[in-house]
Amino acid sequence: MAILDIKHVSKFFGGLAANSDVSFSMEQGMIMGLIGPNGAGKTTLFNCITGFYPPSKGEVLFKGVRMNGLQPNQVCHLGMVRTWQKVRPLAKMTVLDNVMVGALARTTSLKVARQVALEQLHVVKLEHKEDFLAGGLPIGERKKLEVARVLATKPELLLLDEVMGGLNPAESEEIIQLILELRKGGLTQMVIEHDMKAIMRISDRIVVLNSGEKLAEGAPQEIVNNKDVVSAYLGEEVE
Ligand SMILES: Nc1ncnc2c1ncn2[C@@H]1O[C@H](COP(=O)(O)OP(=O)(O)OP(=O)(O)O)[C@@H](O)[C@H]1O
Ligand SMILES: [Mg+2]
Repeated sequence: MAILDIKHVSKFFGGLAANSDVSFSMEQGMIMGLIGPNGAGKTTLFNCITGFYPPSKGEVLFKGVRMNGLQPNQVCHLGMVRTWQKVRPLAKMTVLDNVMVGALARTTSLKVARQVALEQLHVVKLEHKEDFLAGGLPIGERKKLEVARVLATKPELLLLDEVMGGLNPAESEEIIQLILELRKGGLTQMVIEHDMKAIMRISDRIVVLNSGEKLAEGAPQEIVNNKDVVSAYLGEEVE
């Protein structure tokens, strides 16, 4: 059984179809890349999948359970959680407390939450910043904090929205290694990313959105060789 099944999802904002009849599914343990030009509907699809917006049409099944109508916290509790393209840490709280907030999705014990949070800070290599205020972190560390915060909710499916956006090459490489480590640990992931080289390296399959519609789906090599994708999106940049 697919861990995630997106069936004919559309999302309308007035007359604009931000997502239009999008369907694909994901197998357990895989990394799905989700790409497309600015405004293609990638973030909107994340919102529809994780309960931030109800889809206007179609349905989302996670582990065979219909997600339509559930709130984000309910979706998170079932094991699916997303990061935000514009990271928004709880700025006046410490790094550790930010991650504890994620952990408290699964426990009411502060002691357990603290333990889980410390483990996840270790996973993203941010443990040395546990006592810093989240608002004072540079962007690279804020992105890592965002990942630690969602990992602390113990997801089975993680959705990462441009987690490498705004990072320098060394910071991006750290995130790529982190994503690959998480896959080794069995975590299923969907990754929105504009950096084609990065997405080619980490994805088992790629879905391309364009103007809200699914333009193509396939293995990374199939996607870079797809004429529609090249003309709509990739241009001259990818050999
Ligand atoms: N809450 C909203 N209300 C109205 N229109 C919206 C809303 N959210 C998104 N849109 C519109 O839906 C379309 C898709 O936006 P979306 O943010 O999903 O694109 P994206 O693929 O994530 O783009 P980017 O790569 O720039 O992040 C855009 O035209 C956007 O303006
Ligand atoms: Mg977006």
